[in-house]
Amino acid sequence: MPVRLGVNIDHVATLRQARGEFDPDPLAAAHLARLAGADQIVLHVREDRRHANETDLRRFRETASLPINLEMALTEEMMSIALSFAPDRVTLVPEKRTERTTEGGLVLTSDYLNLVRSFAERCKERGIRVSLFMDPDLEMIEKASKTGADQIELHTGPFSRAFGSNAEAGEFQRLMGAAAMISQLDLIVAAGHGLTLFNLPRILSLPDLEEVNIGHSIISRALLFGLQEAVQEIRTLLFRPYERGQR
Ligand code: PXP
Repeated sequence: MPVRLGVNIDHVATLRQARGEFDPDPLAAAHLARLAGADQIVLHVREDRRHANETDLRRFRETASLPINLEMALTEEMMSIALSFAPDRVTLVPEKRTERTTEGGLVLTSDYLNLVRSFAERCKERGIRVSLFMDPDLEMIEKASKTGADQIELHTGPFSRAFGSNAEAGEFQRLMGAAAMISQLDLIVAAGHGLTLFNLPRILSLPDLEEVNIGHSIISRALLFGLQEAVQEIRTLLFRPYERGQR
């Protein structure tokens, strides 16, 4: 089975929010990603709604014919949104107001672990699968296996930042050990954050990897590759002098 691809469309929503209007529509991006072969759509509804929001979630739920993976912090507000919208999956992530993007994996203190466990139970009743975003920390992963979650998404951010440097081998070894442990614990192995066309091949050699979730690099490349065509469309109009002043 090929590794499943989740496409994160938050960056499309970020661009929309810059104008506060309707374009670019993340739902259109989701449909294009589906046509291109994505297996699921990922969106993160943050406390500050800096990109995707409940309206996006509802519109996806109604029209997207792909599984939805909702990234969320474990707050009362987000728990109630998740349980009422019932996405196919939720991925629990830590969230800090001042961060630009998710900075680290979950830290499972005993209170937090209990909260995850009771939320995972309620998700199970609603048919929602639960994934936990974790650093490749064996002790934490062992704790995560006691929460009732189905999947662990390994945080590949440090690996992606180290890619091509002397630190790459060490970061990759940590991911290897963690992936092996997740699989031994009978949980699904996923990976995400900072993955690109260039560093992904190495990640694909992680044992039992089933899913990757990618946003920033896909949207960045799409923007640059589409720019030429968008400029040419305008140039084509400008080169029709006979239409000037006729409207
Ligand atoms: N997985 C998780 C849990 C994330 O928080 C993010 C970022 O929103 C991603 C994957 C995608 O990361 P990137 O945008 O760097 O590809």
